[in-house]
Amino acid sequence: MIKDKVIIALDTQDEKVMNRWIEEFSGVASFVKIGMEAYYSFGPQLLQKLKSHQFKIFLDLKLHDIPHTVHKSCKTLGKLGVDILNVHAAGGHEMMKAALEGYREHSQGKLIAVTQLTSTTSEQLKDELYISKTLDETVLGYAQNAKKAGLDGVVCSPLEIELIHQNIKNFITVTPGIRPLNARADDQKRILTPIEAIQKGCTHMVIGRPITQSPHPKQTYLNILEEIQ
Ligand code: C5P
Repeated sequence: MIKDKVIIALDTQDEKVMNRWIEEFSGVASFVKIGMEAYYSFGPQLLQKLKSHQFKIFLDLKLHDIPHTVHKSCKTLGKLGVDILNVHAAGGHEMMKAALEGYREHSQGKLIAVTQLTSTTSEQLKDELYISKTLDETVLGYAQNAKKAGLDGVVCSPLEIELIHQNIKNFITVTPGIRPLNARADDQKRILTPIEAIQKGCTHMVIGRPITQSPHPKQTYLNILEEIQ
């Protein structure tokens, strides 16, 4: 379903804003993303509310800790009935495997891994994270680790979608860093337009501010759907 390809990031701490978005997108959009900002503000009750409005949910909490802690956390999160949950691939193979085992105790949803944040540049990778490999090599290596650990896919920038699908089969790619033509880049560095991301084969794209901060969020969302159709 084409609607499932566009996941709207509902990033806010303001309950009135969240309720406005729920009303605005209810019956229009099918998939939303709840990240740390909204989850830490509103907790699991927000997820129940979204489910009662028939939204599919990507819970973007990017877990990264010792395997035991991530295992227990994913077990708890698995009870919330979300459709996609994620962990950081940087936590390593053992952590991702532990995450999946914990998640599977209560959930058949997808578990995916963040490769490198779309706000990270090649310079930051080298100078601040002290990773000497290129961004492409790092992202592909992390994605291969995620596949080996049994995960369903990755979060990657739109610039790495093709590389991942060429090397790993039956894998979902969820890509933030999408900016429709004329939209501001904000803090995203590795970006493409929605149509370019679809042409490269992404299975889902996450779009936040270009939709939620636009003067007409519903119309902006519908325009993006039309563009990729
Ligand atoms: O507003 P914008 O379209 O930049 O929102 C992108 C969303 O995707 C944000 O919620 C951000 O936390 C998330 N994200 C990201 N890069 C990743 C993983 C998630 O930008 N690698």
